[in-house]
Amino acid sequence: MAPPVRRRRDGPTARPSTEVASVLAGRTLVRGRLEPVEIAIDGEGKIHSVGRTRPGGPRRDVGEAVILPAATDLHVHFREPGGPADAETIPTGTIGAALGGITLVGDMPNTEPPIVDADGVADKAARVRGRAAIDLLLYASPTQPRALERLARAAGAFKLYLGPTTGIGDPPPAEEVPPLLRRLAGIDLPLTVHAEDPRQFRSDRRPHDPVGWNDVRPLAAEAAALDLLATAPDGLRLHVAHLTGVGSAERLRAAGRSFEVTPMHLLLSDRSGSDARFKVNPPLRAESERRSLWDAFRRGEVPCLASDHAPHPLAAKERPFDRAPSGMPGVETMVPLLLARVRAGELSLDVLVRAACDRPARWLGQPLGRIAPGHRANLMVVDFRAREPLTAKTLHAPCGWTPYEGWEAIRPREVWKDGEPIVRDGEYVGRPSGEVVRPEYAPGRGRG
Ligand code: DOR
Ligand code: ZN
Repeated sequence: MAPPVRRRRDGPTARPSTEVASVLAGRTLVRGRLEPVEIAIDGEGKIHSVGRTRPGGPRRDVGEAVILPAATDLHVHFREPGGPADAETIPTGTIGAALGGITLVGDMPNTEPPIVDADGVADKAARVRGRAAIDLLLYASPTQPRALERLARAAGAFKLYLGPTTGIGDPPPAEEVPPLLRRLAGIDLPLTVHAEDPRQFRSDRRPHDPVGWNDVRPLAAEAAALDLLATAPDGLRLHVAHLTGVGSAERLRAAGRSFEVTPMHLLLSDRSGSDARFKVNPPLRAESERRSLWDAFRRGEVPCLASDHAPHPLAAKERPFDRAPSGMPGVETMVPLLLARVRAGELSLDVLVRAACDRPARWLGQPLGRIAPGHRANLMVVDFRAREPLTAKTLHAPCGWTPYEGWEAIRPREVWKDGEPIVRDGEYVGRPSGEVVRPEYAPGRGRG
């Protein structure tokens, strides 16, 4: 029998494992450089050992392709319960994620009804069983004080919305935020915050396009929300969602706080498109801001990349701009778009893997995101020669559109979960083995 898994508080440890069941050989990143390795995988789907390649033995060689850890996406909206199912469901969303190189997502609570208590978490967990291609961690809204204690034992993390958005009509007033943060600091769960302070919104203006939307919900709202969050106790496991300003990023880095940026805010500006498909909260920013954020990302100054996959049916996006919902799909395209930037020489693979694979998994306390003994053998195999233009027709999301139509992408050739392929030759070949996970350990503050 396998010895018990022992974990330190700051991560999974190397441990003696069961017999080696398979060996995957190829190149991977070793201290930031691509080197040939053999990855031995045990019978439980965990990485047994990582060594230099040797000829012979029962092994599969991926040739010129590169083996990377699979990614973790901290931020998706899979629209269950409540739909709309023609935007996304747990089965479709998790298959899209798998095709995009992701084996764990954090699913947000702004559903219909919203996830605010332990029963809501239990209901969503029941929807995951037997229907999910990859694992999910379930966020819950900490808005019902009496539900908090039981909720903390059921949910995987908290999500607090400071500004209104899809499914969130009235966020807590500013004066209630510091006491809530103090209360949450006493609960050992990660907290993600949507950082827009509505007191800075220019709600008298009527937006007609993404430039107007950026005007209504300006960067000043993000800065004001960070002022509120600066009151958070040091011990709070605080992470800020979808940061859009480079000044905000510098501020959180200086404070040692975790945060994420999205491909939307890295790759698109408020002039990338003029219709409501490009409407998102927080808004797309000016091109100069986008470029500065991209430069900070390239320098490795952004801890986490997350998709904020928030699909809406095309019909809803075709409403007049001010009445259309906010959000875009992105879980299937996040890693492929950025792998193409690596191929183009604009981004280092090491920076991408840290932001998309390693740090998000550590933030959620998961033994994922590194090719190291004791970690789950959740991997992707990437052939950097396989560039292709993205098109909604070949994407999995039922919403049927992408803001990245025609953009160059490199989709993973294979994706492995627990030592078995779930994507082969770019096609989903897995089964609904995804489970609900909760943090297994707490990362140190600021290490994200
Ligand atoms: O644009 C957004 N869409 N921002 C959010 O905060 C929520 C999301 C959604 O659920 O549609
Ligand atoms: Zn979101």
